[in-house]
Amino acid sequence: MIRVLVAYASERGGTAEIADWVGAGLRQAGVDADVRPAGQVTTLDGYDAAIVGGALYAGRWHREARHFVRRHADTLTHRQVWLFSSGPLDRTAEERDIAPAPGVAKVARRIGAEGHATFGGRLTPDARGFMASKIAKRMSGDYRDRAQVTEWAAGIGRELRKVAV
Ligand SMILES: Cc1cc2nc3c(=O)[nH]c(=O)nc-3n(C[C@H](O)[C@H](O)[C@H](O)COP(=O)(O)O)c2cc1C
Repeated sequence: MIRVLVAYASERGGTAEIADWVGAGLRQAGVDADVRPAGQVTTLDGYDAAIVGGALYAGRWHREARHFVRRHADTLTHRQVWLFSSGPLDRTAEERDIAPAPGVAKVARRIGAEGHATFGGRLTPDARGFMASKIAKRMSGDYRDRAQVTEWAAGIGRELRKVAV
């Protein structure tokens, strides 16, 4: 069975949950998926493909996602890899494709990623932290769309199965 690693970097849990939905979408399409925090992954041995996701903070991918790709760049270059970002605190990610942040686009080019998706984010009204609490006053909410995430992941799962035949 094809095995996919879903590695994520999340500060407040929203992206971690998206990664779980990605894992569920992959399994729905008939591939095996392990969902793990990017900082805890030491090897990609045993995985046929990877999906790397990170929360967006101040226009950048969460540092653990960046470090993960840097650490495993050689291996990732030789695997099929998809990336996702989670951020926008409005409905735009449901309405249209949002291009990756410049740093994420650079990472995608470097490892030859197959694709990238931007999903809506989540910020709770009681978010802690100087900037986070300020932003939460204006735009707290949950803009993640589970169906959109599942469909994206299932599409990847189907593609991997097709290639494996
Ligand atoms: C301080 C701060 C900065 C943020 N900067 C961005 C940003 O540059 N782009 C974006 O799309 N979302 C931004 N967001 C929204 C987060 O990406 C969103 O809340 C996301 O769901 C957080 O993921 P997490 O719960 O996994 O940490 C920001 C949120 C905070 C609190």
